[in-house]
Amino acid sequence: MPTHTVLPISPDILGFAEVIAPQGEIDGKSNSNEPHLYQTDRMKRLSTPWSVCLTRAEQLADCRLGKGILLDPACGSGSQLFAYCSELERAGIGIELDADSAVLSAANGQIVAQGGNSEWTSDSFVLVGDGTDATAALAEVGLTDRAVAVMHVDPARPLDTQNHSLDEMQPPISTLLNKWSEHFVVGSRGPAIIIDLSPRLLDSQQKEIEQLLLSHWPDSPITWEWVSTGRGRIDRLTIWFGAAAEPATPARMLRLLSDGSVVSFAGRATEAKKSPSVLPETGEWLTIVDSALLASGLQAQWLREALPAESTRHWVRISGRRPMLLSSEPLQMEKSIVSAFVSSTGQVMSRLKVEPTLENISPILVSANFAYLSRLTLRCKMEPSAQPKLQGKLDHGLKDYPRGKPGFLADVETNGGFAWFICKEP
Ligand SMILES: C[S@@+](CC[C@H](N)C(=O)[O-])C[C@H]1O[C@@H](n2cnc3c(N)ncnc32)[C@H](O)[C@@H]1O
Repeated sequence: MPTHTVLPISPDILGFAEVIAPQGEIDGKSNSNEPHLYQTDRMKRLSTPWSVCLTRAEQLADCRLGKGILLDPACGSGSQLFAYCSELERAGIGIELDADSAVLSAANGQIVAQGGNSEWTSDSFVLVGDGTDATAALAEVGLTDRAVAVMHVDPARPLDTQNHSLDEMQPPISTLLNKWSEHFVVGSRGPAIIIDLSPRLLDSQQKEIEQLLLSHWPDSPITWEWVSTGRGRIDRLTIWFGAAAEPATPARMLRLLSDGSVVSFAGRATEAKKSPSVLPETGEWLTIVDSALLASGLQAQWLREALPAESTRHWVRISGRRPMLLSSEPLQMEKSIVSAFVSSTGQVMSRLKVEPTLENISPILVSANFAYLSRLTLRCKMEPSAQPKLQGKLDHGLKDYPRGKPGFLADVETNGGFAWFICKEP
């Protein structure tokens, strides 16, 4: 009695996929280089963006891997697995509990193969069944022993991960490691394992994952990877272990840009320190950064790219949605790695002498006019109901100055409460 149904990667599977996710549900992406993968709405929510899949595949291609197949024991849409197969030109096995998703995944393998080298497809399969049933799954496709060169897994997770144990991820990581460990190709740095985790994982849970992996393969290297799409939060957190880790690189950040390209940088994560009681002065620069940057701990590496050596630099805020940097020099915004993490940057023109409220609209407009601003965007903490009203009044009051430059109003917490600064964008 077979434990898994084997789906080959071939043109025949496309007809079955059409029945499950008809044309309307095929993702119509604007980027012409992106394969049009089959996905149901549920899969779309769970799947990894194609540009992230490709960047990771390029990263994996740089790793020294043993001979063997690529494995995703909970492959969902298969996009990540087949991005690896295509880039590394190696056979892959995807396993998926949900039969419909498995069919779409196999169809996606075919679609990815049609866009490039396809030799890997003859030994690649998607299996319908339990991804933790390692030995049986390999036997279904005629493989035994240490056949797996890389395992990537993106387990389904409870929505509120902070209140759940790691073993509530499906399939559970500890079970996967126990069942698959005897089938991994293990080199001097250990096996190659990549695990997608919730970005909201607690530090203690991150440590738990590390300990779990290290309990099987002590001394193997680890690279933690953060992915941000620039919405002010981390979208994905991934651990790259053993032969998949980047040597001497404990942390890496990928920022997915709106045009589909990815900027990345790496290094050792450190904790940002808030500078006590520094107050911006006219002529200095205030920058609101993507909070994902501080969450990754790679802000020191970014600062080296962002500012010339002679510039002063102080974190005036390190928590919340708008971490803020104060510098004596402007940021080197022409570098995409720098601009990718900047929400707003501007030169301090003046300190507002009044609180930004509707009653104080006149003195605020006077300060904005004095700075030759065409717009003043509120980038400070305020009552949610008051914000659109005040913004509306500011837009109306500045509409006659279109030739000025845009600016923003930023708040800095001081010992005596908040101070507000009018900043002009470069
Ligand atoms: C987060 S999704 C994977 C998404 C995938 N990375 C993508 O880009 O589409 C997790 C998948 O694991 C599958 N799954 C959960 N438990 C499983 C198990 N024991 N064996 C195989 N698949 C499983 C779920 O059905 C779901 O499709």
